[in-house]
Amino acid sequence: MSILVTGGAGFIGSHTVVELQNAGYDVVVLDNLCNSSKKSLSRVEKITGKPVTFYEADIRDKEAIKRIFQKEAIDSCIHFAGLKAVGESVQKPLEYYENNISGTLNLLEVMRENNCKNMIFSSSATVYGDPAVIPITEECPKGTCTNPYGWTKSMLEQILMDLQKADPQWNIILLRYFNPIGAHKSGTIGENPNGIPNNLMPYITQVAVGKLSQLGVFGNDYDTPDGTGVRDYIHVVDLARGHVKALKKIEENAGLCIYNLGTGVGYSVLDIVKNFEEATGITIPYVIKPRRAGDIAACYSDASKAKKELGWEAEYGIKEMCEDSWRWQKNNPNGYDD
Ligand code: NAD
Ligand code: UD1
Repeated sequence: MSILVTGGAGFIGSHTVVELQNAGYDVVVLDNLCNSSKKSLSRVEKITGKPVTFYEADIRDKEAIKRIFQKEAIDSCIHFAGLKAVGESVQKPLEYYENNISGTLNLLEVMRENNCKNMIFSSSATVYGDPAVIPITEECPKGTCTNPYGWTKSMLEQILMDLQKADPQWNIILLRYFNPIGAHKSGTIGENPNGIPNNLMPYITQVAVGKLSQLGVFGNDYDTPDGTGVRDYIHVVDLARGHVKALKKIEENAGLCIYNLGTGVGYSVLDIVKNFEEATGITIPYVIKPRRAGDIAACYSDASKAKKELGWEAEYGIKEMCEDSWRWQKNNPNGYDD
């Protein structure tokens, strides 16, 4: 039996395929490559020494998903495929709702037709909105999202909960990621943003490699220790391993489960700059800019539920996150487009 990984050529997906193969799972990847390169999968094969079965297909194309289920014996699905650019989602809400929600509905329908009822879904800490309490536990009520991307995650969580309630044969695990950064130790796979990065770490690494001149720090007047935004950064390899643990939970017929995947530690923007400089010896020039619309002051997890129920906790610290992000960027200044 195989694990279907949708979006498996992307940043988190490719790292998860490595960990799944290392754990002995057979993996089938479905990706339309709209935000990734097939090269990530050939590099995964080099890392693990195992072949990856790949289908270039779109989750909006139900017939294409059906064909994959006809050819492969799929036991469970880890569903990463989706559009994820926050700003773009504000400009193109219909494209985001169609891709992320209609695509997921197609996938779920085909899974049900094939009696495959095990799903791990990539959700996000964004569903908490401006959190009522930090550190954020899974009991914290979901909040108001500030953009269509966030709403697709929140709505898909609701759809999946309704589905599991209607048919308890489904095992569904919602993983709420905090801020994934870092890259595989080999420096051969990593995050490959299109154009100018929106997220902090790829922006910093592009300043370090000389593609961008300086970092803009979005606001230094938040109610945080140094006034800059605080987040829970998590190494992508730790995050990937969380999916392997979640699969084990699914194998125990878990029903519906929700877990935060974070480290439980918050770092400010200036902490990240300082840690990056210490880890790499490179100075990151920065300038303070106005706050970015939709940003919150602080967001970090209480990660104890995943530790207790999945036996998972993050192993890597901020030093490794910075070193590994930099190794990937330095070795691949243009990502996969060499
Ligand atoms: P990514 O863009 O690198 O990976 C997503 C993959 O899905 C890409 O390879 C893309 O080509 C593919 N895809 C998109 N639409 C598709 C479609 N219609 N059919 C088939 N494939 C499609 O992003 P990532 O950072 O690896 O994120 C993976 C998942 O985790 C996404 O659902 C994202 O929303 C979620 N997530 C990411 C973060 C983060 O900070 N990176 C945080 C929280 C949640
Ligand atoms: C963002 C998204 C979130 C999404 C996540 C992962 C917004 C408002 N939120 O989270 O929905 O799930 O990415 O894709 O876009 N910062 C700077 N300068 C920069 C970039 C970022 O100062 O050039 C600051 C931000 O203000 C924030 C921190 O760095 O305080 C982290 O930002 P980022 O990496 O974009 O992640 P989030 O905003 O937490």
